[in-house]
Amino acid sequence: MFAVYAESFSSDDPLSGLVVGERPDPVAPEGWTTVTVKAASLNHHDIWSLRGVGLRDEQLPMILGCDAAGYDEDGHEVVVHAVISDPSWTGDETHDPKRSLLSERYQGTFADKVVVPRRNVVPKPAALSFEEAACLPTAWLTAYRMLFTQSGLKPGDSVLVQGAGGGVSTALITLARAAGLRVYATSRDEAKRARALEIGAHEVFESGARLPARVDAVMETVGAATWSHSIKSLRPGGTIVIAGATSGNNPSQAELTRIFFLQLRVQGSTMGTRTELAQLVEFLDVTGTRPLIDRVVPMTDAREGFAAVASGDVFGKIVLTR
Ligand SMILES: NC(=O)c1ccc[n+]([C@@H]2O[C@H](COP(=O)([O-])OP(=O)(O)OC[C@H]3O[C@@H](n4cnc5c(N)ncnc54)[C@H](OP(=O)(O)O)[C@@H]3O)[C@@H](O)[C@H]2O)c1
Repeated sequence: MFAVYAESFSSDDPLSGLVVGERPDPVAPEGWTTVTVKAASLNHHDIWSLRGVGLRDEQLPMILGCDAAGYDEDGHEVVVHAVISDPSWTGDETHDPKRSLLSERYQGTFADKVVVPRRNVVPKPAALSFEEAACLPTAWLTAYRMLFTQSGLKPGDSVLVQGAGGGVSTALITLARAAGLRVYATSRDEAKRARALEIGAHEVFESGARLPARVDAVMETVGAATWSHSIKSLRPGGTIVIAGATSGNNPSQAELTRIFFLQLRVQGSTMGTRTELAQLVEFLDVTGTRPLIDRVVPMTDAREGFAAVASGDVFGKIVLTR
């Protein structure tokens, strides 16, 4: 079958290991099902994979991609949940130490077909297109859990979203606005700041700029480059939810004194559960809110999409179609 996969790793030139080609058809193990992929979306995770983060040489070649929407074996329209937990695990699957994301242990979604455990398919409402639905399982689910499970925010509270242009960040801005929060966003780029206003931010700022008021919570995926500003932007007792560190893992100023003195809460967050994915799908269905798509490209042109994500030249999600 057609597939987009990693053949080798390179931390300096991640796209050098990317192959757009053919892989054998997958065989669904007992309890798993085959989904015919109509649309899949790119995440920064796919770039990390090409850099060798979270994968070992002996796992190559690995089909990339965490997110997909398509048809199940009975022809129903479905969204694929990307978190694969151990069959024996009960409860929140993001807490399962043996969990993995599609394309980490099991082959990913950038292909004609992907096999997943039966419980990992979620019905897709007809009102959502395949392209829109394909944006949800990683970036949008991560944003949903950060905002509605981890942050403690309530309608009327205020939130700062760092690095407005990213897939998770655009989801955060859109979901936060739809949920009745006051939304501040930062970006390094003036054009991205203007776009952030269009999709729902109340006010936008250059990275590191002082806000008009301290916020109840900060949503952090940029990491080292924005960490100090995130901590300084919180009100006493506020919460920082961190789900990524694109710009680096070790901030030069960790702001430890400020964290204990102002009794700030630092909350990590990773992906989300199948239940949260179903709730996110329902949220979009009832509110009419839709994922922001930067561009749709045929999966055969996947390299173009990878290059855009690797260079940070995105606003919203890049969707690959079959
Ligand atoms: N924990 C999880 O489950 C989970 C799930 C999804 C994603 N993630 C992680 O979250 C991060 C974002 O993912 P994504 O798919 O949304 O990535 P993305 O689409 O590539 O977004 C990256 C954004 O980060 C900002 N940024 C990058 N480098 C920066 C720097 N040096 N200084 C300031 N801002 C910078 C940029 O914002 P501006 O250009 O607007 O400033 C850019 O738009 C990644 O690290 C990813 O691995 C984690």
